[in-house]
Amino acid sequence: MKRPILLLLAAFMAAPTLVRADEGMWIPMLLGRNQAAMQRAGMHLSASDIYDVNHASLKDAVVLFAGGCTGEFISDEGLLLTNHHCGYGQIVKHSTVEHDYLTNGFWAMNRDQEIPCPGLTVVRLVRMEDVTTQVLANTDDQMTESEREATISANIEALTQKAVEGSHYKAVVKPFYYGNQYFMYINEVFTDVRLVGAPPSNIGKFGGDTDNWMWPRHTGDFSLFRVYAADGLPADFSKENTPYRPLQHLQISLKGINEGDFTFVFGYPGTTRRYVTHDAVNLAANIENPIRIALRDIRLAHYNAAMKQSPAQRLKYASRVAGIANGWKKWQGETLGIERLHGVEQKMQQEASFRRWAADKPQYRNVLDSLEAAYATLTDVEVERVYFNEALLASDFMNRALALWRLTRQNSDAAAQKLLADSRQYFADFSIHSPIDQAIFTETLVYAWQHGYAPYIDKKYTNAQTLTTYLNTIYTKSILNQPQKLEKLLTLPTEKRASRLATLLKNDPALILFHTAYSQVYSPEKNQSFSAANARISHLMRTYVRGMMEQFPDSNFFPDANLTLRVAYGHVQGFRPRDAVYYTPYSTIDGIMEKENPDIYDYRVEPRLKELYLHKDYGQYANSKGELPTCFIATNHTTGGNSGSPVLNADGQLIGINFDRCWEGTMSDLLFDPNYCRNISLDIRYCLFLIDKYAGATHLIQEMTIVK
Ligand code: ARG
Ligand code: ASP
Repeated sequence: MKRPILLLLAAFMAAPTLVRADEGMWIPMLLGRNQAAMQRAGMHLSASDIYDVNHASLKDAVVLFAGGCTGEFISDEGLLLTNHHCGYGQIVKHSTVEHDYLTNGFWAMNRDQEIPCPGLTVVRLVRMEDVTTQVLANTDDQMTESEREATISANIEALTQKAVEGSHYKAVVKPFYYGNQYFMYINEVFTDVRLVGAPPSNIGKFGGDTDNWMWPRHTGDFSLFRVYAADGLPADFSKENTPYRPLQHLQISLKGINEGDFTFVFGYPGTTRRYVTHDAVNLAANIENPIRIALRDIRLAHYNAAMKQSPAQRLKYASRVAGIANGWKKWQGETLGIERLHGVEQKMQQEASFRRWAADKPQYRNVLDSLEAAYATLTDVEVERVYFNEALLASDFMNRALALWRLTRQNSDAAAQKLLADSRQYFADFSIHSPIDQAIFTETLVYAWQHGYAPYIDKKYTNAQTLTTYLNTIYTKSILNQPQKLEKLLTLPTEKRASRLATLLKNDPALILFHTAYSQVYSPEKNQSFSAANARISHLMRTYVRGMMEQFPDSNFFPDANLTLRVAYGHVQGFRPRDAVYYTPYSTIDGIMEKENPDIYDYRVEPRLKELYLHKDYGQYANSKGELPTCFIATNHTTGGNSGSPVLNADGQLIGINFDRCWEGTMSDLLFDPNYCRNISLDIRYCLFLIDKYAGATHLIQEMTIVK
């Protein structure tokens, strides 16, 4: 048993680098370091074509969309492309029964029809700067973590203020490599953003949660917006505003893709944890994920059953199920991927090599032992919090208890009004919804209790049955489920309401349960130990990562994703998900027709799309084989936040829009495996086909710069 491990170890130690082929999300400003490798991989551009502060560059076309997705300019009149699932919130918000844009799609046939979206923001990076020295000024190794934090915050405050003084820019500073380096971002924030187009859901969300995180995929996951400005500067909505003219917009290529082609993704990846220790990988993959998955199984079983009952129920639960199922499915793939990679063992081997290297270096010698100790104190509190969020807060009932409990602490009229309005809506279909919610409430809590993570349940309940009966009683007895009583409480004058709330805190079983649970899980001692462990871990990780960078001085370490602009590069490539199965790298409209099933909601095909398919009316968007390509996969390292990111070819032209990853590779936030990790993109030709041929919005095609 010992030999293979030793061999693996030897191979690892011989490797000059820690980062694998195609792994990494690189900092645009430092792309010069990747330029040679990118060119060797096939790129025809230079690093300064991608990021330049003295000339317009590709970075001027890439924006942070809605605070958590990516978007890109595709015309000189501010036309912006992103995913359907990124524009989803706006599409839903503007949909009514008469104008159901979510179901039927929306196309502004002229500028007047574009829909303002107050609250929606688009952020363009003006420039970035390494500010490590300024941020770390007056800090030293003797400081406590909180003293250090305070000094750093003060430095950042002064720095950012000065940086944007007298301008309309906004500055943010972000830590890299666990605080070994800091960059400042000078941004321009646009607030007049209008909805221009979206395909119907059965195109933009084709495959729904069934196909989510999976290949082969056929989702037309895009939507269109337009950014407006006042004299070229960001401004809130006004009729007088005019389309923003970006410094650069993307050229769109119809040349398409072939297996092996170089591609890069330019966007805003949210979070990765590439450098954490085996304890953190074990905690995420083997402890937290299984708990979350099991508890979400319970919720999904009830909602999915309800959604089969009627179209109204399907609509009611669709978006909450999408949210619950998205994480649920990703975590399953992540845990399997970590297992397949022997991720925990791999980390332990890496740590063993670090320990040997650090044996004679006092500053690094003990860091891994200390990290182990810190994780040992963190784990239990962390797991208890996972149970609190995924079990106690699984039901609407307990979320409403939370809202009412907040009111007992801060009896504001506005909060009472809000709870009243929410409740009225809640009771509108109470008879249908409450059995579902009640089952979720009892089953998730019983599960937590059975696993020893519901210490707030009275010791006298010794079996699942008596506990269930008790929970059912709470559900029916609480004021939260008695519309008249609740209405009366919430319409009382402020003072009277306060005294009534105080009594309820002592009598209402739901409030008592919530209060007990909260006071135990978030007790001052536990909060203290939780934040102390986390502060300790971030301090130690700073040291450990610095050590690894010294251990592998020739390695180009990419910093973990932190919702800043990054470049990932790789190749269009299929893969083997399982024995005897090979996934080819692109899908076509034929696959939509293969999946078509009028009885399965996720697989209904829009009649007009079918018609175009039957006539093979693909225009200039077909490939050389006469097929209409829909999606493709590549080895670019991406994560949540990269949705909507432009996928570019060797010449920096747009060939796709990133929207997902393949299930077998979702462990890439923790460990990247070039054999399994693939990002999924919408082929730009399918997107343009939909805008042009399907929707007839040719005026939009005309403003784009298309190269054939
Ligand atoms: N999996 C993709 C991402 O993580 C898409 C999620 C939205 N789609 C869905 N069917 N829930 O964001
Ligand atoms: N679907 C993700 C997003 O919305 C992308 C990913 O996790 O790969 O950003």
